[in-house]
Amino acid sequence: MLRATGLLKSYRAPSGAPIRVLAGVDLAVKAGELVVVTGPSGSGKSTLLNVLGLLEDGDGGEVRFDDERVSRLGRAAKSRARGRYVGFLFQSFLLLPTLTALENVLLAAQYVGRSGSATRRRAMELLKEVGVADRMDHFPAQLSGGEQQRVAFCRAVLNDPPLLLADEPTGNLDDANGALILEALRGRARAGAAVVVVSHRPDAAVGASALYRLRGGVLESP
Ligand SMILES: Nc1ncnc2c1ncn2[C@@H]1O[C@H](COP(=O)(O)OP(=O)(O)OP(=O)(O)O)[C@@H](O)[C@H]1O
Ligand SMILES: [Mg+2]
Repeated sequence: MLRATGLLKSYRAPSGAPIRVLAGVDLAVKAGELVVVTGPSGSGKSTLLNVLGLLEDGDGGEVRFDDERVSRLGRAAKSRARGRYVGFLFQSFLLLPTLTALENVLLAAQYVGRSGSATRRRAMELLKEVGVADRMDHFPAQLSGGEQQRVAFCRAVLNDPPLLLADEPTGNLDDANGALILEALRGRARAGAAVVVVSHRPDAAVGASALYRLRGGVLESP
């Protein structure tokens, strides 16, 4: 489902000095697999997910979805590929402040032109699954960090994306709710999605297809 080869990415520090973040990352994730990536803060995990999810362009290398070389597509086609393939769970949630929890989840369906009562029911089911159904009419500012994180999870999975990229999906959650989200991510993999999870929780690796550590800009086995 996902194949990345030779990914390179550098940023420029405010001083102008280059910061090499990805120095040749190779990663392949098949449908049904769940891969866990760890690594110290600043090692480039979020950058890697952004490049894999076509939110940022790498400086080199390529990303393929189902053998299509999506990293070479133009802007509009890339955004279509992202809509079709990728569910993104951001480290900073990125919920829209003017929409309620339920509306934020439903936004995912709107992007792909879906609406209607079945979609709404599915969104409510997901919110229930992660224990925030009773907060669905709250705006993000009226939700705790962990509740926002769980709403963001629902938005990421609403369309059943074949590729799910989750950046520290349990970062704001207690043990029990973190375990719930991890189990929900495993459930997505069992249902056939390719899942990449950035996480430091030791239990994230339980049942994972592979565990990697991002170090020095490349993925290594820990
Ligand atoms: N737009 C940018 N311009 C310059 N440097 C950047 C930019 N974005 C990220 N960086 C730098 O790139 C490095 C990797 O950042 P990234 O967010 O990918 O790390 P991370 O592994 O996700 O860290 P964390 O565990 O803290 O979330 C960091 O040192 C960061 O300072
Ligand atoms: Mg990060």
